[in-house]
Amino acid sequence: MQIIRLIYASVARPDIGYDDLSQILESASLHNEKNGISGILCYSGGAFLEAIEGKRVAVNQLYNRIVKDERHSSTEILTCGPIEVRSFIEWSMKMISWDESFTPQRRALVLRHSGMQIFEPWTMTGKQAHGFLRELAELERRKELREVSDLSVA
Ligand SMILES: Cc1cc2nc3c(=O)[nH]c(=O)nc-3n(C[C@H](O)[C@H](O)[C@H](O)COP(=O)(O)O)c2cc1C
Repeated sequence: MQIIRLIYASVARPDIGYDDLSQILESASLHNEKNGISGILCYSGGAFLEAIEGKRVAVNQLYNRIVKDERHSSTEILTCGPIEVRSFIEWSMKMISWDESFTPQRRALVLRHSGMQIFEPWTMTGKQAHGFLRELAELERRKELREVSDLSVA
């Protein structure tokens, strides 16, 4: 079976808010799960960076829908191609919103993967974007593990 990964960057509508992000997360989780798609979406400072993985036809159909969504614009594919292994298999959609605070750790992550002090994902190469999202996913996995172990100690 041919599995592909597509990563794109886009500019969020200027007035996008918490309700929009929650709605995107809710519908994306449902739809992606039903269609065998795994993915991660990072939102920060008015920009989106998303990776979607799955069957070629499903990823293409989804991307065509996402592009038409008026909650963002200037959608640009950074990389798209067949993969051997999914990077974000455990999430139908993981959304990470950095809008509350751009911490030094986050700034360092962006700097490491793009050479920029600010999150402007359309300046990244496909490899940089993938590396950035993989590291972000790894931080989230560790956070989720810590939360589980805190629960079992409590
Ligand atoms: C930045 C961004 C990322 C999105 N990611 C997904 C996604 O991964 N999966 C999904 O089903 N919808 C996603 N959506 C929502 C779709 O664009 C669309 O609104 C939703 O799938 C409902 O489509 P429909 O109205 O044609 O049924 C995203 C929207 C935005 C703005």
